[in-house]
Amino acid sequence: MARHEELPVPTYSSLEPVYGGGSQLEEAQHRFNRIKEKFVEFYGQPPDIYARSPGRVNLIGEHIDYEGYSVLPMAIRQDTIVAIRKHSADKTEKVLRIANVNSEKYSMCTYPAIPDQEIDLKNHKWGHYFICGYKGFYEYAKSKGIDVGVPVGLDVVIDGTVPTGSGLSSSAAFVCSSTIAIMASFGVSIAKKELAQLACECERHIGTQSGGMDQAISIMAQSGFAELIDFNPIRATDVQLPAGGSFVIAHSLAESQKAVTAAVNYNNRVVECRLAAIVLGIKLGMEPREALSKVKTLSDVEGLCVTFAGIRGSSDPVLAVKEHLKEEPYSAEDIEKVINEKLETIFANSQTSLDVIKAAKHYKLHQRAAHVYSEYKRVYAFKETVSSKLSEEEMLKKLGDLMNESHHSCSVLYECSCPELEELVKICRDNGALGARLTGAGWGGCAVALVKESHIPHFILNLKEQFYQSRIDKGVINRNDLGMYVFASNPSSGAAILKL
Ligand code: GLA
Repeated sequence: MARHEELPVPTYSSLEPVYGGGSQLEEAQHRFNRIKEKFVEFYGQPPDIYARSPGRVNLIGEHIDYEGYSVLPMAIRQDTIVAIRKHSADKTEKVLRIANVNSEKYSMCTYPAIPDQEIDLKNHKWGHYFICGYKGFYEYAKSKGIDVGVPVGLDVVIDGTVPTGSGLSSSAAFVCSSTIAIMASFGVSIAKKELAQLACECERHIGTQSGGMDQAISIMAQSGFAELIDFNPIRATDVQLPAGGSFVIAHSLAESQKAVTAAVNYNNRVVECRLAAIVLGIKLGMEPREALSKVKTLSDVEGLCVTFAGIRGSSDPVLAVKEHLKEEPYSAEDIEKVINEKLETIFANSQTSLDVIKAAKHYKLHQRAAHVYSEYKRVYAFKETVSSKLSEEEMLKKLGDLMNESHHSCSVLYECSCPELEELVKICRDNGALGARLTGAGWGGCAVALVKESHIPHFILNLKEQFYQSRIDKGVINRNDLGMYVFASNPSSGAAILKL
């Protein structure tokens, strides 16, 4: 049997295979009716096709996907639905019209139907995420020599339930569902792993140098499983989580704006990791020229680090970090001396990296590398623990410990937490979570806590009292919306095309 990443995104003619039964199905039926109504209201006709792709919660393995290491997320039930209708080629007006069911918050965006248009990053608009998918589709078709005809107009309506700025990948849900909807309406079908790669590359048009985790899980998730996602090549392996525990997702209410703060947060860390890898490569014997051309990620020099450790009777790459990267922050000049090149020259082909260098005061190479090399080991330890013979009690405890260690590393070494997340994680632990950590890029957004199944209602109630009540009193959030900010989540299914 083909592994599921080799198969195309499934196409269904009803909602049950995606949303199951019961209240979730009812809610989905209601959403789809509303999207259709809106579509007719905006464009006078119903859509041809729908695509949906879910958000995700990352259980462990933070900020290591872009360094080539495996991560372990699961899809959540919240998703983005894209309804689309393709115009015929003879229509003279060739425009992409992108509307949202929530038209009060997201007003209609229009773009010309020009496949290689530049996205105006200085002027951030919500519709840009659709254009990422649009550009990606044409880039893919061009690279494969697929004739998709002359560009045509597209009418689109979006409905998203993944909270934005929450670390739950609303952007990947949007880009993936857009790419899938466009592909389906042009009759192009590709394997999920290719699609995940494409969606990851095209989301970079928004200006973040993100790794491939969010798109991979959104596209490849299987209901009932978390997935171990490997990269180069992309692969997804089902991971069955222990029955007695569940994951509670809780929003810190600090918005994490990954695209907007990229130069000082997300992309900064990508650049720091690249520099750490190059410096390590040189310290461990590579010629500067060779290191500059060959070393892209910390996984590229892991072998050298392990060899270094091996001589000292260990296999831990962190040993090389401790020996060769100083703990004090590096200035640009410090690094340039080692690598014998100007930082501006190394990153000359990447405007988003040049933006990082312009904004950076210093570079914490030791801390970032130590995080990456320790975090990837925790991912494997997590995977091994769930498939071990430990009792459920011991297993849950071990998983919780790994999550706590991951949070500590994110917070102290990678510095991607924030005061609100620290407060929330502490409250989770104080109320009996076996483990709790920030999830996603960080700098705001959600925490994920592992909680014994039987404790969940009580746990959520305590979070409401101890974290959210003061925010309700201050008017930060509305009591009626609490269910959007704190909820338990089971692993949901991945992307789908719906021909209803
Ligand atoms: C964001 C990115 C992912 C990943 C996480 C951090 O969600 O899109 O690729 O790097 O941050 O783990």
